[in-house]
Amino acid sequence: MDQSELKKVAAERAAEFVEDGMTIGLGTGSTVFFLVEAIARRIQAEGLHIQAVATSSRTADQATGLGIKMLDLNEVDHIDLTIDGADEIDAHYQGIKGGGAAHTLEKMVAINSHRNIWIVDESKLVQVLGKFPLPTEVIPFGCERVFQRLEAEGLHPHFRLDADGKRVLTHNKNYVIDLHMGAIKHPHLLAHFLDSQSGILEHGLFLDLVNTIVVGTQDGAKVIKAR
Ligand code: A5P
Repeated sequence: MDQSELKKVAAERAAEFVEDGMTIGLGTGSTVFFLVEAIARRIQAEGLHIQAVATSSRTADQATGLGIKMLDLNEVDHIDLTIDGADEIDAHYQGIKGGGAAHTLEKMVAINSHRNIWIVDESKLVQVLGKFPLPTEVIPFGCERVFQRLEAEGLHPHFRLDADGKRVLTHNKNYVIDLHMGAIKHPHLLAHFLDSQSGILEHGLFLDLVNTIVVGTQDGAKVIKAR
């Protein structure tokens, strides 16, 4: 199986965790694409009544098109279960997200969820985080100064650019600065530093958040209880 098929294996297994009556959070990305299709099929086949909050307009559009009832995060007092992709997961089940620039909304949905499941193909499992550049979302005002501070800290910042060389804009019309720092030996310390920087709206370190990981492997879906 290629990477895309492994993503599908993980997504379809994770869709089985959705139960009738749930309010669910839907992440963003190519793995979540398969998840939304699988949940829509279950709704059709089993008559499940669920409602969902999306972490991007991409996911919201797909889910709406497939007949899934969508709500805004402001309209729900909690989310029962959120299922999302990830860019890297380390040996302690800490993660990097934001490869699709949706990490601010993803983190808000995740922290308002009773349970979080990540769905990945096996290539996303690593010993130490950091090979995947760590995304941050920065507001345009003063962003060059934020960049300068990150550079001075030795975090190797790069503004994320699109195919035309323009700065990528997030859902909130902010920029993405990716940190190409290599191995992140102390993720909690780094998260604390980034949390304290005015101008950084959110970063892609998702620490102590995930409960279950569903991995697509050549031998099928593997379910890991993280916490
Ligand atoms: C979106 O910003 C990301 O956090 C995605 O969840 C992550 O990049 C996983 O994407 P894929 O499922 O496309 O690999």
